[in-house]
This record gives sequence, structure tokens and C-alpha cells, in this order.
Amino acid sequence: MPSANKIHNLLKKVIFGDTLLPQEFTVPLIAPQKEITVWLHGLGVPRDVTYCQSTVCSAPFIICIAFDTIQAPDKQNLERLSLKFCESDGHGQVLGEIGLRLTNRVSLSDLTLFFFEARSSANYCLSRIRLGSHYLLQAYTTKHQVNTSGMKMSFVERRAAMVSFIRPHPTSIVSVNDEVGGNIFIMNLMGDLGNNYFAFALKSTRKPAHLVERTGRIALSSVPFHEGKTAFQLAANHFKESIEWDQLPFATMRSRIFDIPVPDFALRVREMKVELIHKIGSHTLFVARVVSNQTFSVGEELHVVHGFYQARRLKESGATLKASLAMDSLNKSGSRSV
Ligand SMILES: Cc1cc2nc3c(=O)[nH]c(=O)nc-3n(C[C@H](O)[C@H](O)[C@H](O)COP(=O)(O)O)c2cc1C
Repeated sequence: MPSANKIHNLLKKVIFGDTLLPQEFTVPLIAPQKEITVWLHGLGVPRDVTYCQSTVCSAPFIICIAFDTIQAPDKQNLERLSLKFCESDGHGQVLGEIGLRLTNRVSLSDLTLFFFEARSSANYCLSRIRLGSHYLLQAYTTKHQVNTSGMKMSFVERRAAMVSFIRPHPTSIVSVNDEVGGNIFIMNLMGDLGNNYFAFALKSTRKPAHLVERTGRIALSSVPFHEGKTAFQLAANHFKESIEWDQLPFATMRSRIFDIPVPDFALRVREMKVELIHKIGSHTLFVARVVSNQTFSVGEELHVVHGFYQARRLKESGATLKASLAMDSLNKSGSRSV
């Protein structure tokens, strides 16, 4: 007779197939990623907003989209907008959608940022039956696990957050420093806004948000995929007031203008001056102007995608999926080793 364990594994295989993957999955991509385009629908001709939007906050789930101020739409035209996350090649297949509800707008010299919450969400990366099974499993796990994040997200917010990670998120290293102290940590709730502006979101209760608020400037380093494990080690620094630069497990160099230590393996370093701080729910949004941009080399960069999308990306190749799982696990062993 097969053991209970065998039956459990068989059931898991039947229900989930090869789609039971980590929700945040690390993948190597050349930046700027081109495989997913994010389209804004509901304002006439769909607009490509892949590189002018960012997540603002997780709880509540808020996304911001930037417009040139002179082209910013009127409030009454923003009633039924949605974002569609599409494959860039082939037939531009829609893999996910987020229905948007306007909550706020903020002007910033020549840019206007519109803030939206999710009024609906749909995910087409998996079949409906697989997706339903995942949602049931997640509901069960959420109910039975201790919530250490301190964040409460509704079902639609959680689904929208998963859809937002169909767009591969570059996962970078932030360095912050002044005469009082500094820190270096990993970050991926961020995005280009256009016109040399960049947005990033940090948990308001954690030290890095307070530090960036104090110094008003950061250096953002793009991470080669093979340094993923090192980058994940820096997740622990989200809980630290400051760090000792000479204790880091890698060599550093200095950023061009602000003279902040940055990893010497960085593919690219952008220095940014914070121009707007917007506190909202669980996160603080920082909007910064890029004041220097140095590329040292081009290579596969650390990105994170949602596990449902990774399952779809690699559904034709079990061996590649297995190899990518091993690489993902190696990267994350960084955060487990501290
Ligand atoms: C890959 C990665 C990216 C992260 N990006 C951010 C970020 O953009 N903003 C932020 O406030 N924290 C970020 N963090 C930190 C996490 O929010 C958090 O510190 C850590 O993972 C522990 O999770 P917990 O909040 O559930 O305890 C990131 C962590 C990792 C591993």
C-alpha cells in the first residue's frame, strides 16, 4: 500500500502540476526587460506604461502611473482604467489585468503621478482550475500561519500584487550614507517614472525608510544574477539602524557624486536625490531624480517575477524549470544564512 506521504505528493502533483513554485521567483534578465509590456487601457489608444509606473504601497495595494503634466488626463477620464500585463512578442497575449480606481494625484515639476488602488484583478498565467487551487491553498496557509509582516491585504489586493509581479522587477541594492551612519539593503518595489524620475517604496516601520528620509539621497546598484545570494543577504539590513561598511562580505567602490559605498560588482549605479516623500499605509513612497547614471558592464541582472508567471514561462521545459528552481533556492539561501 502506498504511504500517506506518497499519496500526498501524488495529489499535489495532480492538483498543481509543476506550478507550485515560490511566489517571488528570481530570474536572470538583461535590463531593461522586454518580455512583458504593461498597457494602460481606458484612455483611448492603449498606452505603454511599462517604464512609467511603480508600486507605491502593499497595504493598501497602490500603484502610481506618471504622466507628463501637460498631457495629464482629467479626473473624469480616469474612471474605468485598467492595466494589462502582456507578452511583448507573439500575439501580445494578456497574462494579467488590474482594474484601477483613482485615489490621489501628486504633481512634481513636469510630472503628475496618479495613484490607483485595485478594484479588480485577473490572472491568466495558469488555468482557472489551477489558479483556484492556488488561491485555496494560500487562503488556508494565510489562516494558519502567523503574519509576521504586520500587513493586512484584501483578496483583491493580494491578487493584484501577484499580477504586478508578472512584470519582471529588477531587484537592486540600495546604499545610503551620511556622517551619522549608513545602510545597504535589497529592494524591488520600485520603477522608472520617466523624465529622469524614479520611484521606490520602503516599509514605513523599518529603519531604511527613516534613513532615506534623513539623508534624502541614495545610490541604486543593479545586481548581476550570479550575485543574487549576496544581494539576498542584505535583506536582513532592513531591520538594522546602520551597518559597518568594512564588515560587508564584498568589496565596495564609491558612487560618483555622493561618494556612497556601492558593491564593486554593480552592473550599473544610479545616484538619486529624493524630491518627494509620500507616506501611505504600510509603505513610504520616495520619488527621486536621477542625478548620475554609470554603466560598468552589461549582463544578466537579478529580477523577480511571480511564481505563476514563472510556471507559465517555463511550462514547456521541465528541465529548465528544475534548473531555475535550483538557482532561485541558491539566491535565497543568502537570506537564510544570516
Ligand atoms: C528580494 C527582496 C526585495 C525586497 N524589497 C523591498 C522593498 O522594495 N521595500 C521594502 O520596504 N522592503 C523590501 N524587502 C524587505 C522585506 O520587506 C522584508 O524585510 C523581509 O523580506 C522580511 O519580511 P517580513 O516583512 O515578512 O518580515 C525586500 C526583501 C527581499 C528579500
